Amino acid sequence: EMGYFTYDPGFTSTASCRSDITYIGGDQGELWYRGYPIDQLAEQSSFLEVAYLLLHGELPNKRELDTFNRAITHHTMVNESLKNFFNGFHYNAHPMAMLTGVVGSLSAFYHDTVDVNDPHNRMLCAYRIFAKMPTISAAAFKHMLGEPFVYPQNRLSYCGNLLNMLFSRPSEEFEINPVAERALDQLLILHADHEQNASTSTIRLTGSTGTNPFAAVAAGCAALWGPAHGGANEAVLNMLEEIGDVKQVPRYIDKAKDKDDPFRLMGFGHRVYKHYDPRASIIRKTCHEVLDELGIYNDPQLELAMRLEEIALADDYFVERKLYPNVDFYSGIIYRALGIPTEFFTVMFAIGRAPGWLAQWMELVTDPEQRIGRPRQLYAGPSKRDYVPLHRRS
Ligand code: SDX
Repeated sequence: EMGYFTYDPGFTSTASCRSDITYIGGDQGELWYRGYPIDQLAEQSSFLEVAYLLLHGELPNKRELDTFNRAITHHTMVNESLKNFFNGFHYNAHPMAMLTGVVGSLSAFYHDTVDVNDPHNRMLCAYRIFAKMPTISAAAFKHMLGEPFVYPQNRLSYCGNLLNMLFSRPSEEFEINPVAERALDQLLILHADHEQNASTSTIRLTGSTGTNPFAAVAAGCAALWGPAHGGANEAVLNMLEEIGDVKQVPRYIDKAKDKDDPFRLMGFGHRVYKHYDPRASIIRKTCHEVLDELGIYNDPQLELAMRLEEIALADDYFVERKLYPNVDFYSGIIYRALGIPTEFFTVMFAIGRAPGWLAQWMELVTDPEQRIGRPRQLYAGPSKRDYVPLHRRS
C-alpha cells in the first residue's frame, strides 16, 4: 500500500492552521497585523507596541504599554553564566550560529517556566525571549569584534538600547542617533510577522510536539538563516558587491534568468506576493530618507539596487513570473548605513521576527484543533525485498 495523500511539496496549497494574527493579500500586496495595515503601523506605531499587538491581540492603551515596557525591560538581562557560551565560539563564528545556539540554551536557564500548559508561563517565556533577543544578539556582535559586552539600559527605548549595546564602548561617549533609532524601529515593525513563512512554520511544527518555546525559537532561527528566507538580506548585499558596477547589471539579470545557472536575483520573488511586497516599498522610501538624513549621498549600492530593480521589472521573465523586490531587497542598505555589518543582517531580521514567532507559538499551543505536526509522504523507494547476507553480496 503506497498511501494516497495530497502531494504538496513546499506546501504551496496546504493551510496548516487557522490564525488570527497576520493577513497577506498576495495579489494586491496587502499585509495586516491583527487587522491593522502595515503602512499605518510602520508610520505611526512603535515596535514595542506592535509586539504587544501581536502577543496580546489588541493595541495597548497608555497604561498597558507602560506596564508592558516595564515587564520587558525587567527581562533584558541574561544570566552572567550565559556569557560563557560566547567564549566557546571562534571570533569569526557566524552570528546566526551563535544566536541559534544561545537562544536554545535559554531553556537550560528557565526550567521553571517550560511547562507550556500554564498560560502565565507561556507569556513569561514569550516576554523573556522578546526581551533577551537584543541582549544576546548584541553579545554575538561584540564577540565578533572582540569588544566587551554592553549591559542593557532600561531607560532606553527597545531600539535605543539595541543600538547602545551594539555600538557603545566603555572608552568613549556614545550618543544614539534618533534617525537610526527610528529607522531601526520601523524595520523591526516591518519584520514582526508574516504568517506561515518557513521559520514560523518551523516554530509551529517544533512547538506542536510540546517542546519549550526556547527550543522552538532556536529552530526558527535555524530556518530563518537560509538564503532563500531571512538569509537573503545578507545575500543581497553580497550580490550587489559582486555585481560591483551598474554596467554589469544586464549580465547578472541574464544569469538570473538562465535555468542552467544557479544564480538567482537575491531579494526578488515571493511565494505569496505576486505584486510588489508592501514592506519593500516602505523600506525603499525609508532607505532614501535615511541615507539623506545621515548625509550619505549617491550610495553606489543603492544606485545599483535601483538599476537592478528597474531592469528586472521591465524584463518579460520577471513580469511573467510576477517577481518583485521583497522585504530583504532594500533592508540591507539601511542596515549597512547604520553601521551594521552584512553578516549580522539576518540577526536583525530574527530580532524583528521574534514577537511574530512567539505570538504564533502561543496561538498554536492554545488551539484545540492543533495536533502534532506529522506530514505524510508518497513512498517511491524499492518494493519489499529480502535481506542478503554480506558474504553473498557482490
Ligand atoms: C523572505 O514566506 C515568507 O513570507 C518569507 C518572508 C517573511 O517575511 O518571512 O517574506 C521573508 O524569506 C523573503 C524571500 C527572501 N528570498 C530571496 O529573496 C531569495 C530569492 N528568491 C527566491 O529564491 C524565491 O523567489 C522564493 C524562495 C522567495 C520563493 O520561492 P517559490 O515560491 O518556491 O518560487 P519559485 O522558486 O518556484 O519561483 C517561481 C519561478 C521559477 O521559475 P520557473 O521554474 O517557473 O521558470 O520564478 C523563478 C523560479 O526560477 N524565480 C526567480 C527568482 N525567484 C523565483 N528567478 C530569478 N531570480 C529569483 N529571485
